[in-house]
Amino acid sequence: MRVLVIGRGGREHAIVWSLSKSPKISKLFCAPGNGGIAGLAECVPITELQFEEISTFAKEQAIDLVMVAPDDPLAAGLVDHLEAKGIAAFGPRANAAIIEGSKVFMKELLKKYSIPTAAYESFDAYEPALAYLRTQTAPIVIKADGLAAGKGVTVAQTMEEAEAALKDIMVDQVFGKSGASVVIEEFLTGQEMSLLAFVDGSTVRLMVPSQDHKPVFDNDKGPNTGGMGTYSPLPHIRESIVQEALEKIVQPTADAMVAEGRPFKGVLYAGLILTPNGVKTIEFNARFGDPETQVILPRLQTDLLDIFLAINNGTLAEQPIEWSEDAAVCVIVASPGYPAAYPKGLPITGLDQVQDSLVFHAGTAIEDGQIVTNGGRVLGITGIGKDIIEARQKAYADLDRIHFDGKHYRTDIAMKALK
Ligand code: AMP
Ligand code: GLY
Repeated sequence: MRVLVIGRGGREHAIVWSLSKSPKISKLFCAPGNGGIAGLAECVPITELQFEEISTFAKEQAIDLVMVAPDDPLAAGLVDHLEAKGIAAFGPRANAAIIEGSKVFMKELLKKYSIPTAAYESFDAYEPALAYLRTQTAPIVIKADGLAAGKGVTVAQTMEEAEAALKDIMVDQVFGKSGASVVIEEFLTGQEMSLLAFVDGSTVRLMVPSQDHKPVFDNDKGPNTGGMGTYSPLPHIRESIVQEALEKIVQPTADAMVAEGRPFKGVLYAGLILTPNGVKTIEFNARFGDPETQVILPRLQTDLLDIFLAINNGTLAEQPIEWSEDAAVCVIVASPGYPAAYPKGLPITGLDQVQDSLVFHAGTAIEDGQIVTNGGRVLGITGIGKDIIEARQKAYADLDRIHFDGKHYRTDIAMKALK
């Protein structure tokens, strides 16, 4: 089969890496890809929202399946566009991807179907939002409704911070149209868990759980990022909690989407928090997580293409899905300054010195034969071992072998599992 993956980050590198092991794939393309993906797939200079160019390329190249990985093209309807042209595509249609594309939609769905989530109010005008906010106390969480590259959420520790976040979103419109509505939400405390599932309408098959680290600095300090590191499994979280999340949150959400006439087909990502009052939903994403994918797919022992095809054929319930017992830890190496402004084009050295980790490129490019930085998150180094301790050691040892000016990373990835 001839397969085209849409996207350009570390997640897409991990997906392409996993698909590249499939004996059924004769040719892999990635649009637009990055400096690391180029070693495994033919990268084509078409970007994620160039729908006409993507479908024309898919027709010309007789592509059998287009795998749409990122949130933006899913929310904007790339799967619908491809299907309308008779091209097979993997991922939810726009009417289901809205579970990520609109936090207001997601919160109303969960409320309607009594699925556990943080208490909230939503607003589409600044004055009433501000008036409501002033009746609340900090800490409190302010969220832009739409997609904001993982940066639309402020966990405000003071009311000043909360009011500033609300003003940024609704008055100064720093997230553009994504901030036309806001969700003001109860602050929850507890361990977080990313629980991703393959979903084919009402069949839900959980992937192995993982945990992300959103804030940019050690000990969860500093502003939120797209994710600074992940690990899987979560040895400190009981299997019964994962089952509770499946039964009370993930399965009911898939069923609710079917009941709403918006069946979800693809990867459904539940961002969960394990509160003293049970598991609650923080967010849903309509796609693989980044960098969760960089620890999940290395543990997958089944051909990923078979799972994608089973979802598209409606046979996910019968599809075998095997996971290894290994642990995986992914540490993100970011550009100096990220998540604020950062330079690009810094030469990266030492990639050839890496010993036994998987290096997934997130923001790199090739300039005159040299790999250079080209994004905020630059690389994800995934160590694999018999347990979290060994996987961590391997990831950090290999990270030390890689250099670029001002490289930044957290030193405490996966420590929550070891405390
Ligand atoms: P999101 O973009 O919705 O994943 O939110 C980013 C991060 O903000 C999450 O990973 C949490 O760490 C934090 N967060 C979001 N909502 C809440 C909440 N209601 N209570 C506490 N933390 C939250
Ligand atoms: N790692 C968080 C996300 O993919 O949204």
